[in-house]
Amino acid sequence: MQGKYRALWLNDDDFLEVIDQTKLPFSYETKVLKTTDEVVTAIKDMTVRGAGVIGSVAAFGIYTASMEVKSYDELKEKVKFIRESRPTAVNLMWAVDRMMEYLKDSTNLVEDSKKYATELNDEEALESQNIAKYGCDIIEDILKKKDKKIINILTHCNAGWLAVIDEGTALAPIYEAKKRGIDVHVWVDETRPRNQGASLTAWELTQSGVNHTIIADNTGGHLMQIGEVDMVITGADRVSANGDVANKIGTYLKALAAYDNNVPFYVAIPVSTFDFDIKDGVKEIPIELRSEDEVKYMRGVDCDGVVREVLITPKDSPAINYGFDVTPARLITGLITDKGICEADFQEIKKKFN
Ligand code: MRU
Repeated sequence: MQGKYRALWLNDDDFLEVIDQTKLPFSYETKVLKTTDEVVTAIKDMTVRGAGVIGSVAAFGIYTASMEVKSYDELKEKVKFIRESRPTAVNLMWAVDRMMEYLKDSTNLVEDSKKYATELNDEEALESQNIAKYGCDIIEDILKKKDKKIINILTHCNAGWLAVIDEGTALAPIYEAKKRGIDVHVWVDETRPRNQGASLTAWELTQSGVNHTIIADNTGGHLMQIGEVDMVITGADRVSANGDVANKIGTYLKALAAYDNNVPFYVAIPVSTFDFDIKDGVKEIPIELRSEDEVKYMRGVDCDGVVREVLITPKDSPAINYGFDVTPARLITGLITDKGICEADFQEIKKKFN
């Protein structure tokens, strides 16, 4: 499989190619994105998803757009559509803004955008490696303190290598733990309505031979009460200057349950996930509203092996589909960043990232 550790790459013809995440776990397929419109659609329909990867695709999307224009101003117009393709994950805006700043005096938009998109992605891959190490040190500490041989980690949504290159954010310390020979077991929240946990995280962990169990979204609290969760690690789509964390809908409830049960709750993020302009994440982070059909229909394989989508609600009942929620900083034990562990606190974040 070509993209095992990257969810996107430039193919032999120098076009952006991505893993089609809407097809997993039932089939591994890739898509070549040759135009700006195709890039925008792939982000919107979640062919690619996960905060980091959306940013990476946006960066290479600008390279794709640069082949369709003659000037920086024309590029700026096209890039607006990429920047607005999804609202919550700030990595998208971060990547677009950095790319456009770099290209402002460029005399060769195609070459320069390709070069800088590659650099940004390589930077993100290095950050992921650091997150892996710092996060795994915490895993070792928890095991030592509890004098246990196996660690049970709960995660929500998908924050592995399909979501952030190269090894993800929340899953990076777990992959590192496996490398260090630690016995690790992951509770995988299914993550309704799009089931990124059940479809993507479970698939990733299977590929890497990590012991895991899929649970219905409402199970985490019970597992914490009976002592079956040693820590929670999630990723994030945007972290405000005061340490509030926007992540996939349902994360907040897990954080509340973890707080009530004294289970450490960590959030793993690269620097591109911070939004230093937002002072109060709960009040200010924009929350994506997606189609109600994602709640009303489910996709799976029928008994003949055919992938189908089926309605699971009364046809005319209305549904509402908030993509994300915000976990207040006070519920978060720490942020696992590429610069080390940081308290989810305004002053601490400022000290580390200024
Ligand atoms: O809607 P998605 O699948 O793009 O949402 C993804 C998540 O919420 C992840 O947990 C998040 O991006 C963290 S991984 C960078």
